Amino acid sequence: MRHLSVPSDQTQVWLERCRAEGWLAPTGVMALENGRRAVPLNEHAPEANDPCWSGLLVVDLEPMTKGPAHWKERLPPALQQLPDETWPSAYEIQGDVLMVKLEEAALAHKKAVGQAMLDQLSSVRLVCADKGVMGDFRVRELEPLAWRGDEPSTQTEIREHGHRILVDPSKVYFSSRLSTQRMETLQQLRAFSNQLGRPLVVADPYAGAGPAFPLLLAEAGLISGMLAGDLNPSAVELLEANLERWTMKRDAPLAPAEVVCEDARAWKNQDRLCGRAHALLVNLPHDSFEHLPDLFPVFDRSNTSLLRGWAIVERDSLPGRTDRLKRLVASAGGTASETHVSEIKGFSTTRCFVVFQTTITWD
Ligand SMILES: C[S@@+](CC[C@H](N)C(=O)[O-])C[C@H]1O[C@@H](n2cnc3c(N)ncnc32)[C@H](O)[C@@H]1O
Repeated sequence: MRHLSVPSDQTQVWLERCRAEGWLAPTGVMALENGRRAVPLNEHAPEANDPCWSGLLVVDLEPMTKGPAHWKERLPPALQQLPDETWPSAYEIQGDVLMVKLEEAALAHKKAVGQAMLDQLSSVRLVCADKGVMGDFRVRELEPLAWRGDEPSTQTEIREHGHRILVDPSKVYFSSRLSTQRMETLQQLRAFSNQLGRPLVVADPYAGAGPAFPLLLAEAGLISGMLAGDLNPSAVELLEANLERWTMKRDAPLAPAEVVCEDARAWKNQDRLCGRAHALLVNLPHDSFEHLPDLFPVFDRSNTSLLRGWAIVERDSLPGRTDRLKRLVASAGGTASETHVSEIKGFSTTRCFVVFQTTITWD
């Protein structure tokens, strides 16, 4: 389609003139590479060599089209006739991977949904049907529906608090819903390190891809060592790749620097994983409290320790949880102070999602 190429500071003048003359096409002004603008012309506009253009060039360009506002408008016309309730109203994006839960009625048209979403969202590379979370590793069963490029891979990269994290929703648990908790962890560990007057050795035996670490590692002088692990081998692979990136620019190497693929409850049987941590993170929400008795051996008992974790608990058990935590610490030979178990809002389950924390002095 013909466009008039104009210096950008003359765009308005030419727009008004073309509109007044009845020469303006409705497709919109486009930016050209050389800082010029292209004003769209209709079939009534004079020929390129007409003196009315004052020597400006008339160029042939694909017109700018404003796409549909919503992915549903990109479905084949016949599908657009189906009731609106057929289609999902929400989806989740991790990096460039979009995951969408489809009800029965939409499942019959899953490929069309995937293609419509892919066409609509230019930053998405892969659209998957999300069939829910599976197994102890709590990873999602994902079915690729539509993608750009070759073989679709679910590995992708997200940004959180300015740090890049490799994730893979089909192989390793990750939830961005805990990102504020991770910032809070940084603040709590910073305060604890100041209280101890030394950098910390942090243990995260349920680390997943390791999202707790980038903030902690980026803080100068906060972390001197790290014990990290997960029972899921794919998680440990990503964790290692992520840690390599996050520790690359450190002046002093971490010591200890252990990354293991182990059941956290078995750490107690390995000397290199015991008696070394100042702070322990416990993020196995369905079983955190049950695992705690096996985890206390990771602490360095010559110092005060900090235990911080997350759990999903029955709402009516919440009032007794703080005492239960204190009793667990006492059975391990410690005294708990500044203990709390607090509900984290925004997790809409009938049970509640809590963060717990206690400072432990050893007898
Ligand atoms: C809720 S996820 C938390 C992952 C990570 N900390 C995060 O915030 O993204 C729990 C993790 O614990 C791992 N896991 C499950 N059982 C485990 C066990 N017995 N020992 C160690 N890791 C385990 C899972 O593979 C999963 O990656």
